[in-house]
Amino acid sequence: MKLSDNILTPADFGLKSNPTNELLLNRYKLSDLADEFGTPLYVLDVKSLTERAKQFRHCVSSNLLFTSRVFYPIKCNSVPAVLRAVKNAGLSAEAMTDFELDLAIYCGFEPSDIIVNGPCKTESFLRKCLEYKVHLIVIDSISELKNLIRIQKEIPVQIDVLLRVNPDFVPKDLNKNSATGSRQSSFGMNEEEILRALAILKSHPNLRFQGIHFHIGTGIRNPETYSEVIRKLHRLFGNIQSAGVEIRIVDVGGGFASMTTRELSPFEMMASQAISSYQLKFKQQMFSTCEEYLQEIFLAMSEFFGSDMPTIYFEPGRCLVSPAQTLLLRVHRIKERNGMKWLITDGGLGTITMPTYYEYHEMFLCNEFNRVPKEVVTITGPCCFASDLIYKNKLLPRVNEGEVLALMDTGAYFNSLESSFNFYKPAIVAVNGADCKIVRRRETFSDMIQRDESSLSAHKEKYHEICISQE
Ligand SMILES: Cc1ncc(COP(=O)(O)O)c(C=O)c1O
Repeated sequence: MKLSDNILTPADFGLKSNPTNELLLNRYKLSDLADEFGTPLYVLDVKSLTERAKQFRHCVSSNLLFTSRVFYPIKCNSVPAVLRAVKNAGLSAEAMTDFELDLAIYCGFEPSDIIVNGPCKTESFLRKCLEYKVHLIVIDSISELKNLIRIQKEIPVQIDVLLRVNPDFVPKDLNKNSATGSRQSSFGMNEEEILRALAILKSHPNLRFQGIHFHIGTGIRNPETYSEVIRKLHRLFGNIQSAGVEIRIVDVGGGFASMTTRELSPFEMMASQAISSYQLKFKQQMFSTCEEYLQEIFLAMSEFFGSDMPTIYFEPGRCLVSPAQTLLLRVHRIKERNGMKWLITDGGLGTITMPTYYEYHEMFLCNEFNRVPKEVVTITGPCCFASDLIYKNKLLPRVNEGEVLALMDTGAYFNSLESSFNFYKPAIVAVNGADCKIVRRRETFSDMIQRDESSLSAHKEKYHEICISQE
């Protein structure tokens, strides 16, 4: 599927505008939300998230030639309101850390609806997986497998496992560095290690091998990437079957792209940091629908398995949640010097950390989205730190101090990579049809110091004064 042209409009993100060209999400003006709840502020569109998750699930489950399950990777956005929305849409969960497993349980996922993955499952984390009796564990290394076997002697529950394969595969449209299935990445096991792990599993019937997992990266736009990697795995599937072992599940991971953002190429990443006149553009690209990804996955799977298809597991994160959230930033100061202009906002490294370094994100002026673009500016955050940059060389209309910018597609890997840099972390307001409510309040002074050794007795009065002033 192709977007109609190079220019993204607010409508591509489900936003509307009123006769004076202010941006609205349903009936809420974005600049009103910024005024009421303060900035930086995340605005979560719960309805669009729920619909997208339902559509994905419907798309894969309506193919009657195989059975499937969809697991939302909590790492992508771990805000409880997001987890509740994907759970209501019928998705299960994937946890990569101790915290994510606790959070999934806290948000109401049954252990039988949780798979556990990740490269560093500590002994205590593995123990917890057995105690909870999660649906299955994706084993990342031989060392982890041996550790699990030892723990199982003390907690003798049966558990299903997948083996994560590193397919030695770099998708054509991804940077090598972000290809999680490349031989240079530490994730998963190679073919020889998988076969060794299988041999170990044979003598441990309490760990039941169910199949293979792979995950090759994030933001993959071309669906043929999936058929290519699955074809590459045919030999491994054959070797597993020749060892007399049945493959009941193939987990194809996540990575499906959002249609309104994209990863920068290595050249663009360097150029946008180094060349002061280099402007990033949303280039016209192929973006794919769930049906298109599925068609390629099904094709390559059925070439090997015929009509005896295993169950296919999917782990979509970014494509569901990225477009469902917008970050509002207020421009507090404007500076112009030596032919350069800076818009200094209240969110940057102290809020969003990394994604705008390696991804293209669109930006709109909330109170007049169609004011004519006139000048190239650099948008910074509030930190006293040279790389606190949101955007270098962005063509924008003339913006005034006090106006609010909307940074789009900030639902995936923004909150979970959130930083602080000694600023209070932003609130999240959720718009759900006609409703609007705070689902995460702005961080406060007491949140930020509550883990510290209590010098509070000495400074009790000041502490209370500050907390009261924030109420
Ligand atoms: C194992 C695994 N599954 C799923 C995902 C989600 O990927 P995405 O958000 O691109 O769909 C990730 C993210 O990197 C991952 O590591």
